[in-house]
Amino acid sequence: MITAAIGQPVSRVDGRKKVTGGATYAAEFDVPNVAHGSIVRSTVASGRITVIDSSAAEKAPGVIAVLTYRNAPKLAYAEHHGTTDPAVGERLHVLQDDRVNHQGHPIALVIAETLEQAIHAATLIRATYASEAGAIDIGGVEPVPPTGEASKWETRRGDPEKALTSAEVKVDNSYVIPRENHNPIEMHATIAAWDGDRLTLWDKTQWVDGVADEIAAVFGIPAENIRVASPFVGGAFGSGLRAWSHVTLAALGARVAKRPVKIMLSRREMYYGTGYRPHTVQRVALGASRDGHLAAIVHDAYHETSGYEDYTEALLDATRFLHSCPNVYTRDRLARLNVHTPTWMRAPGEVSGVFALETAMDELGVALKMDPIELRLRNEPEQDEYKNLPFSSRSTKECYRIGAERFGWSQRSSEPRSMRDGGLLVGWGMATATYPMNFAPASAMARLLPDGTAEVAAAASDIGPGTWTSMTQVAADALGLPIDQVKFTLGDTSLPKTPPQGGSMTMASVGSAVQAACRKVREDALARGGANDLAEAMRHIGEPIEVTVDSKPGDASQRFSMHAFGGVFAEVAIDPDLGQTRVRRIVGAYGAGRIINPKTSRSQCIGGMIGGIGMALMEHSVVDPRSGRVTNANFAEYAIPVHADAPAVMDVTFVDEHDPHVNPLGVKGLGEISIVGIAAAISNAVFHATGKRIRELPITPDKLL
Ligand code: MOS
Repeated sequence: MITAAIGQPVSRVDGRKKVTGGATYAAEFDVPNVAHGSIVRSTVASGRITVIDSSAAEKAPGVIAVLTYRNAPKLAYAEHHGTTDPAVGERLHVLQDDRVNHQGHPIALVIAETLEQAIHAATLIRATYASEAGAIDIGGVEPVPPTGEASKWETRRGDPEKALTSAEVKVDNSYVIPRENHNPIEMHATIAAWDGDRLTLWDKTQWVDGVADEIAAVFGIPAENIRVASPFVGGAFGSGLRAWSHVTLAALGARVAKRPVKIMLSRREMYYGTGYRPHTVQRVALGASRDGHLAAIVHDAYHETSGYEDYTEALLDATRFLHSCPNVYTRDRLARLNVHTPTWMRAPGEVSGVFALETAMDELGVALKMDPIELRLRNEPEQDEYKNLPFSSRSTKECYRIGAERFGWSQRSSEPRSMRDGGLLVGWGMATATYPMNFAPASAMARLLPDGTAEVAAAASDIGPGTWTSMTQVAADALGLPIDQVKFTLGDTSLPKTPPQGGSMTMASVGSAVQAACRKVREDALARGGANDLAEAMRHIGEPIEVTVDSKPGDASQRFSMHAFGGVFAEVAIDPDLGQTRVRRIVGAYGAGRIINPKTSRSQCIGGMIGGIGMALMEHSVVDPRSGRVTNANFAEYAIPVHADAPAVMDVTFVDEHDPHVNPLGVKGLGEISIVGIAAAISNAVFHATGKRIRELPITPDKLL
């Protein structure tokens, strides 16, 4: 029986649980005898604690323990860099000494019977500091190269400076993206419970195995002694890729209190206790011939990081291969500040770099008086000119064609301010999108039961893309079973190991493992049961049979450059009196390989589009340059798109793309490409509407008036 579950717009198998409250999120696990933790955070950005007085807090009602650096147990903090940690530097140590590294650095943990008691007692702790002058503002320090291999951060081919100088047409500008914070609906939370030397963590995370490894290193215990469960995650966008200090504090608190301890960050704490998209400054200079062929690209960038870790991201990767150009220079540097470490936030690096590159391309098109699609078509590369490898597949032209057609691009009048709707200025803009195909080793278990149904499992997280559902489809397809006869489970370190749910790699990685495990167990069953029909074979066998399979990439990445591509189009309407921009339509066409579930895939893409609206028009964590405080660390003042900001038209097309090289499933990933290019398309549309080029995000009304 062929189920053809792959490719079907299956509704979420966990949808009913989610809308009825049956899905249990980290803070909701009903752990008996749980106590509550509240973190006290520093009010200075840099210095030492001179006095910390917790006596009043200790006497407050319900308080079980108060931990500061003076009485907290010493932790091992063994050297450990998981794949989602910065490779250089050392993670923040908490309650180990009197140092304060950033505004909001944890300086105490209060554990009490109730959450209210913990929060109240935390307000009674008094700390004084020997504050040190620190650098908070990105403009206040000289950017430096990241530590380590220089060739990663600075690349050159041809003679870009000379080519730029002699180019017939050039544009040369700086683009600024402010700090942005992840704002998932579910805030980070951990419940920690010790049983002797074994620890259980119910945690909001994108990587249960990563949390176990990290906490094992911090406490100096074997990772096998730690179980991490994270079956449901209410959004994360990268904030759940590392185990932040509250996870350590929950485990530490539980050890001292000799009871399970729950810590949930407040919305405000999300701006201090987890990472963020770094404030980034980028110069992009493009030189071209009059007929629109790129002669030179210079992309020189720097962004903020902490004083204790070198956070770097793929800011310049797309610039090196997206458009054909013989002379390319890229350089990334770091501004080391007294701030906490930034982290991955949806399409980290790619979305920021592509914003600058694709806005610059639009500026070049204007200088050349050339349609932006035509400009891109003239610079369509034959191969990846950075890696000197052919693309495994590249559907940019098809994406431009389909996107333009669905958008109605041919109706665009090219002059800025030439399109109106009553009193509103209308603008149309576009950009190219790209994101790498990531594929990492993963394992999965498949078990067939005598009744002919199957149980399939892997440790993976589902932060929202629909992994519960899409993996059920992959499993059903490989087993030849209807999807309602397959029960897929994820989100637990007791299940076979997987990579983080990040880098859009889950379907390629975990999906390949699930497919392989299901194929293998089916073959085994048919052989052992001596039948052509799986149900009959399992009846004969009469007992469960189970396999666990490891999957890993082959050598395709040495032979091919593998990326998803897209063309994205935006329409804005701007009130010239109020400077207010509304996005009316977004159209995206993507070549992202095989689409396992068109329904959840479309949801991913509209989520990315809405995220892109936030980036273009709203999001900005305003950091006080004197104190490092985020002055808008709340939902009232950190603006993100709500339903009323989401355009009625978000049109998503997946071009038919069969890529035999990327991975066994032929998928390229969707979670991140869906936000790439959106902010550029919107900023290009804003220019088209108004004639004003805003190079510093977000494009707020004050910048347009
Ligand atoms: Mo994504 S930033 O890899 O969760």
